[in-house]
Amino acid sequence: MSESRRFWLRTYGCQMNVHDSEKVANLLCHHGYTASEDPDRADLWIVNTCSIRDKAEQRLYSDLGGLRAWKAAAPGRALGVGGCVVQQEGDALMRRFGHVDFVFGTHNLRWVPAMAEAATRGVRSARLEESHSPERFDFPERHPDFATARPGRAYVTVMEGCDLFCSFCVVPRTRGREISRPAHAIVAEVESLAAAGTREITLLGQTVNAYGRHEARGLRRADATAGTVPFAALLRRLAAVPGLARIRYTSPHPIFYDDELIRAHGEIPALCPHVHLPVQSGSDAVLRRMRRRHGTDDYLRLIGRLRAARPDLAITTDLIVGFPGETEADFRDTLALVREVGFVDGFSFKYSPRPGTPAALAPDGVPESVAQDRLERLQSLQRELTLAAHRARVGETTEVLAEGPSRRGGRQRAGRDPYHRIVNFAARADGGPVPGTLVAVEVVEATPHSLIGEVRSGAGASVRPVKNGLPDADEHWRSAITGA
Ligand code: 5AD
Ligand code: SF4
Repeated sequence: MSESRRFWLRTYGCQMNVHDSEKVANLLCHHGYTASEDPDRADLWIVNTCSIRDKAEQRLYSDLGGLRAWKAAAPGRALGVGGCVVQQEGDALMRRFGHVDFVFGTHNLRWVPAMAEAATRGVRSARLEESHSPERFDFPERHPDFATARPGRAYVTVMEGCDLFCSFCVVPRTRGREISRPAHAIVAEVESLAAAGTREITLLGQTVNAYGRHEARGLRRADATAGTVPFAALLRRLAAVPGLARIRYTSPHPIFYDDELIRAHGEIPALCPHVHLPVQSGSDAVLRRMRRRHGTDDYLRLIGRLRAARPDLAITTDLIVGFPGETEADFRDTLALVREVGFVDGFSFKYSPRPGTPAALAPDGVPESVAQDRLERLQSLQRELTLAAHRARVGETTEVLAEGPSRRGGRQRAGRDPYHRIVNFAARADGGPVPGTLVAVEVVEATPHSLIGEVRSGAGASVRPVKNGLPDADEHWRSAITGA
């Protein structure tokens, strides 16, 4: 039998894109491919692209330039491009880059193995159509050869697309209309992941807490959203899945919080005490022009209600500076809001005009140097707040899902605590904790980027009781590795 073909996947962008790449990798494993160890020696290269800001898009063009030599170095090599840039540019990308064999849109992942196979016969192809069927969520279970970079954790898609059309955002144009996945399929996927050792899931969707809203309210396109339940009910069902310890979801939109979801934060122990809730700006005038459908008051009220339900809730956010027409006073309102909420962390971006979006036509753009200055001031404030939040945690024992080597090098390992903070700690003498397992860590030091802790050893090392007869994941992995 001939050696199996090797693939290399490069991914830009959000968790949704990372997860799309996982789906493609898993599909390729099911079609006899293996992941390549070396990008230069791969037979199939796939770039999964992002178009949220211009910078991400430009990276694709520079990658494609570099891949000409790789493609020419051996016969039969295939190059595919997928994701949001493809959805935006269509097959123009294939006309512009003669060495690209196939392009696939965000709803067409399932066609990748067939397109890659056709490419080896010299057939170029493009699949860009939007799918309105929940079948597009159906992918095979994890193949034994599928290697996740995230031991013990998994992303699970619950909805896709966005119907909100914020004036700066290209996503509704690249990811299409909002559609929710039937609840039974989500539960089945999570059960299967948990049975195989996944302890933490992150539910994904562009406006994830809009999950099921069309069906719940009898709105249009009920056919495309049949079999859903309200988002809070979905969380409760998933919390009952044997073996699962943690549930997260990202990214919610402020307007889709209802009483049930807020209450869920106080009532479901597995629901992590962290919410990433993009606010984008602290100025009502800017929020209006962004077409965000909420004001700062609504946002602050929501934060208050969430904190009333779960007092230790950690809140992080996304912010855009330099949106057209943003004045110094608007920007100061953003700084004030950031202080008032006390975000534990935040991602902040300079506004980047995107093709086809209304804001890109606004005449009153903010000069680059002003936007850069605001970005730096905002980030400096956030660093201060993050460090203060981290310092307040010193002395506490927290539960960490161990991931792998830390960026700090040496014998340092890293993982995330329930608040989604990175915690670094030294490996135990026995080499543990095994990635994908939950350990108790005492926080001993705070830095602006992470917490530093010490693993509690001995009987207290496992902070959760073994649930529902499943083996403790630490034991499971240990025996898998040592063969015991
Ligand atoms: N320019 C800058 N940032 C943007 N984002 C989305 N669109 C743009 C844009 N055109 C940011 C928002 C969003 C995050 C994923 O990316 O803050 O929440
Ligand atoms: Fe973009 Fe707004 Fe939809 Fe988020 S809610 S994906 S920012 S249009």
